[in-house]
Amino acid sequence: MTQNNTALITGASSGIGRELAIQFADGGNDVVLVARSEDKLRELATEIESQFGQRATVITKDLSRPESVDQLCDELTHKSLTVDTLVNNAGFGALGKFAELSADRQTDMVMVNVVALTRLTRRLLPSMLQQNRGGVLNVGSIAAYQAGPNMAVYYATKAYVLSFTEGLREELSGTSLHVTCLEPGPTESGFGEDSGMGKLEMFSSTTMTAKAVARAGYEGYMKNEDVVIPGWKNRLMVTSAGFLPRIATRKLVGKMQSA
Ligand SMILES: NC(=O)c1ccc[n+]([C@@H]2O[C@H](COP(=O)([O-])OP(=O)(O)OC[C@H]3O[C@@H](n4cnc5c(N)ncnc54)[C@H](OP(=O)(O)O)[C@@H]3O)[C@@H](O)[C@H]2O)c1
Repeated sequence: MTQNNTALITGASSGIGRELAIQFADGGNDVVLVARSEDKLRELATEIESQFGQRATVITKDLSRPESVDQLCDELTHKSLTVDTLVNNAGFGALGKFAELSADRQTDMVMVNVVALTRLTRRLLPSMLQQNRGGVLNVGSIAAYQAGPNMAVYYATKAYVLSFTEGLREELSGTSLHVTCLEPGPTESGFGEDSGMGKLEMFSSTTMTAKAVARAGYEGYMKNEDVVIPGWKNRLMVTSAGFLPRIATRKLVGKMQSA
């Protein structure tokens, strides 16, 4: 009996993660859905099982908790689940000055966007290497390419995601594993309202759908592309930023993000 490929998607309860879970299920993968909102995950699991006939397992976790990744891995072992593809998508942001935003929210952001992503990758990579198949799709942001005044921690976490993914990709270049960083720009999801960015002109005037972003990410991962930036406007923004000195891009972003 051949075992189905299994993709674990963090932040699968909403937005881009939800759509990525659907893409992977549509592509013939069983899925493990991880986030805090159990009801939303169960609803998605039912939809995936009836629409695509793939197994969908729900694991509820708060990834800002330091013990959450090890608990998640214990649950995978307990359920005899081997993960082939890890999609590190869970993440959030917060618009505001570093000194004014709460310390807890900003350190939780580092825990979810950086620490959980790193630990989960480290915990799940050995079995991928052993089987020499599968890989990692990390969800970063076009925020990775410059500093972000009035959202300094979020931009820094996404710079980490890009740098980590590129470094890991190079380390694994002699294997069959795929390693891809999906770098969305403004996207219709819960992120805009939750972070406060949704009210900014720079955000609301250029949004893409979560489905289109997820489709580009899934296809790029399947082709083992290193970086996927969905949408020509986002690609233009990143390319232009590359021509400007960092002091200029951060001043520009600071101006656009001043409420
Ligand atoms: N939307 C954009 O404009 C945009 C642009 C660039 C990059 N991104 C990135 O895309 C990724 C997905 O965001 P989205 O746009 O789809 O936003 P979203 O609709 O708000 O989804 C965020 C997901 O992350 C999960 N999550 C948040 N905190 C968590 C925690 N403590 N533990 C476990 N799961 C947690 C949420 O689930 P629960 O609340 O159920 O836990 C939800 O499923 C993020 O990494 C974000 O930084 C988004």
